[in-house]
Amino acid sequence: MDYRFSDTINSFESSAVREILKLTQGKSIISLAGGLPNEQYFPLDAVREAFLRVFEQGRQVLQYGLTEGYTPLREDLCAHLARKGMKAEIDNMLLTTGSQQAIDLLARIYINPGDVILVERPTYLAAIQVFQSHQARLISVDCDEDGMNLDDLERKIRQYKPKMAYVIPTFSNPAGKMWSLERRRGMLSICKRNGVLILEDDPYGELRFGDGEPMPSIYSLDDGPQGSAVVYTSTFSKIVAPALRTGWVVGDSTVIRNMTRAKQAADLHSSTMDQQALHQLFAHFDLYAHIAVIREAYEARMRGMLELLKQQSWEGLSWIEPKGGMFIWVELAESIDTQELLKLAVQEGVAFVPGASFYADEPKRNSMRLNFTHTDSDMVVLAFERLDRALSKMRQTV
Ligand SMILES: Cc1ncc(COP(=O)(O)O)c(C=O)c1O
Repeated sequence: MDYRFSDTINSFESSAVREILKLTQGKSIISLAGGLPNEQYFPLDAVREAFLRVFEQGRQVLQYGLTEGYTPLREDLCAHLARKGMKAEIDNMLLTTGSQQAIDLLARIYINPGDVILVERPTYLAAIQVFQSHQARLISVDCDEDGMNLDDLERKIRQYKPKMAYVIPTFSNPAGKMWSLERRRGMLSICKRNGVLILEDDPYGELRFGDGEPMPSIYSLDDGPQGSAVVYTSTFSKIVAPALRTGWVVGDSTVIRNMTRAKQAADLHSSTMDQQALHQLFAHFDLYAHIAVIREAYEARMRGMLELLKQQSWEGLSWIEPKGGMFIWVELAESIDTQELLKLAVQEGVAFVPGASFYADEPKRNSMRLNFTHTDSDMVVLAFERLDRALSKMRQTV
């Protein structure tokens, strides 16, 4: 058969990095590369019990469901959002197969080939892939520790007339940043003035370290959801378990309705078994106490990794101390290309994700993303020893 694939598949081409990371599978390589939550904190017993409660309700639980998602879970989530100062009714909410699908559905209904989407420098790799698969033109906006540079945002809006901006303002992937309130307000006001829709992606917002007050989402700063300039998505992946593949998206009801139509064409609906189990979890399990446990555990792991970073004398080493989330963003001397470093690191038995993968354009090659949630602390110590050896090898070859 002469297979004639669509042009779209080129946007799913496997990157060199993924090829290297594939080599780590099944070997004794310590991976700081994945974006994995720690299995130790999956509430296994509570999830089992939740599924049993669903099964006890009889055969109808196995039937097809609404594309919008299981109504009682949407009600639970509206109450959850209200706790965070976010207004949403069930008609403004769609349940998705992870927040990854929410990104895809919004791109499907909003983006024509060639439309410009503004993204952070750096941004989430898999969102870049989604937007590219819809043939969007991605332009990145300069960022610092407080979020997007608003002057650069205005300049790029004037120059490129974007239709949408995609941001992860709370404990971002990959940079672990938390945008200031001023930047959140500033971005909202600039985007509203210019008719640019904001997609706020918030998978990590609950994983806040310390006792500080949570930062309001950009969505909550707008007078939404009706007519809002912000579409907000989040997920159970980091606070319960990613295997349940359940995310949610809220926004103006017309936007949500169109996303629902796109979802109907894509997969009819996400797993109602998972959604029903999550409803039971809300009813019979203290999710907020569980989140508090994860936050504390992840903060301890983050502090452990920061201590190790402080002990290194790597040339040009700097990092952003995360206030939450799952990643530390590290920069090395400009002369160090971390994609080259990864090859040596894998030989030494450690992996990370080189920073260049997270740029939509003009990658910064001397950066890398380290995950601190998944690997246990004794192995992280070993991982740093191996990374140190890889860097020494690299110095010898330059
Ligand atoms: C920034 C960001 N958005 C979205 C997702 C997708 O998460 P899920 O589809 O599991 O909800 C991830 C996963 O790591 C992420 O880091």
